[in-house]
Amino acid sequence: NKEVKNVSQKTIVWHKTSVSKQDRQALNGHKSCILWFTGLSGSGKSTLANALARALHEQKVRTYVLDGDNIRHGLNKDLGFSPQDRVENIRRIGEVAKLFVDAGIMTLTAFISPYRADREQVRALVEEGEFIEVYVKCPLSECEQRDPKGLYKRARAGEIPHFTGISAPYEEPENPELIIETDRVSVEEAVEQLIRYLKDRQMIP
Ligand code: PPS
Repeated sequence: NKEVKNVSQKTIVWHKTSVSKQDRQALNGHKSCILWFTGLSGSGKSTLANALARALHEQKVRTYVLDGDNIRHGLNKDLGFSPQDRVENIRRIGEVAKLFVDAGIMTLTAFISPYRADREQVRALVEEGEFIEVYVKCPLSECEQRDPKGLYKRARAGEIPHFTGISAPYEEPENPELIIETDRVSVEEAVEQLIRYLKDRQMIP
């Protein structure tokens, strides 16, 4: 494979940048990390990520939300929902999220990311404490009832193959940093819980 060859034969070398992540964090007055929202379609990942981004922004924290539907319109528009494509989807997002963390930005990601191994691979890309897995937990029956895009209905009708929760797996996080049960807590309560988590760890002032 090309990548391995380039690195092992040292035809490409890593350049140290003149401004470091620490420099950028100091300038911003807060740390940067990945808040990785994972959960079923319709569980509330995007809603939570966007509500948290708004609240952080109002507290003068620099944020960016990477969202499944949006990334699949551009960077990952060549990918579908087969197991291999989902792996590649998350691998690319992980690399992008890492760049955002390096840029000093609080990075919120909202992807189903159904495979445990893929999420752990992203965790391994960044430093200790920089990957915060947020399990957006909601029973399938509730997600199916919400069905904001009508996709569950279509999946049940056999119109969408490999649909997560119906005909494709979702591997629950085993040790997430946070669990938000969206059928039990309000968006406001969840945002408070997330902000408290970041403050307790001195990620934000
Ligand atoms: S993944 O599994 O992490 O690669 O998926 P992601 O990039 O987050 O994209 C999920 C959104 O794509 C829509 N969609 C599907 N989801 C699951 N399975 C299948 N087959 C599928 N086809 C389309 C769906 O709207 C997901 O959006 P969310 O926001 O999760 O509801």
